[in-house]
Amino acid sequence: MINLDRVSRTFQTRTGDLEALRDIDLEVEEHQFLAVVGRSGCGKSTLLRLVAGLLTPTAGTITIDGTPVRQPRPEVALMNQRPALLPWRTAFGNVMLPVEILRRPRAAYRARAAELLDSVGLAGFHQRRPHELSGGMQQRVALCRALIQQPRILLMDEPFSALDALTREELATQLQAIHMAQSVTTVFVTHSIQEAVLLADRVVVLSPRPGRVRQVLEVDIPRPRSFGHNAHLTDVASCVAELHDLLLRD
Ligand SMILES: Nc1ncnc2c1ncn2[C@@H]1O[C@H](COP(=O)(O)OP(=O)(O)O)[C@@H](O)[C@H]1O
Ligand SMILES: [Mg+2]
Repeated sequence: MINLDRVSRTFQTRTGDLEALRDIDLEVEEHQFLAVVGRSGCGKSTLLRLVAGLLTPTAGTITIDGTPVRQPRPEVALMNQRPALLPWRTAFGNVMLPVEILRRPRAAYRARAAELLDSVGLAGFHQRRPHELSGGMQQRVALCRALIQQPRILLMDEPFSALDALTREELATQLQAIHMAQSVTTVFVTHSIQEAVLLADRVVVLSPRPGRVRQVLEVDIPRPRSFGHNAHLTDVASCVAELHDLLLRD
């Protein structure tokens, strides 16, 4: 469904050209959960922004269902590390924002917004404003906002990085449940090997800048997966160890 064919991206900077990504070949199938890991600065955010249509490649082509990506589109949602909620709107009002921007009928989405908020544990918080919510709760609202328009593709750029470890685990587990229920095609950028192994069908390991595909790892562990003790501990351990070695190599 998402296809990258020899995609490169160079930035012009005051000190000369900066090659962020080189020759990325990648395919993401419908309903797949793809994680992208790599060191800081290797081009992960650039990759997502290219797929989102916020940047154009300097070489190569990106297509979604065969159509070249030229600009952002409503069927592709992007979620960032910071929730960027509107402070004067309630949680519910923030989730409904894309509906208004896309000029869709509000009434048709109200029930969905409420269900989404309930599904991430915010049942009693629909009418709260962002400053009344913890960082983890705000990021949950941002996740609901990304999903309200029923995107076919969800792009997530280190969405849980700013949160404490336990909250990260909780959110990752909720994201897994949402993915199991709705299976929106997802590209999930993370620093966390654990998150990648918990969530992904496949993990792409990028090399240090310029980012190239170093390896693609299939994660063949049954769902639901968990961070704690479960029946697949040895599979999880070997996956984690392999990713760890791939990331540490220069
Ligand atoms: N708009 C830009 N202009 C110039 N350089 C950029 C721009 N965006 C990203 N870069 C550079 O490209 C490289 C990759 O950045 P980024 O995609 O943010 O990496 P990551 O998300 O993996 O940390 C970095 O060296 C960064 O400084
Ligand atoms: Mg980044």
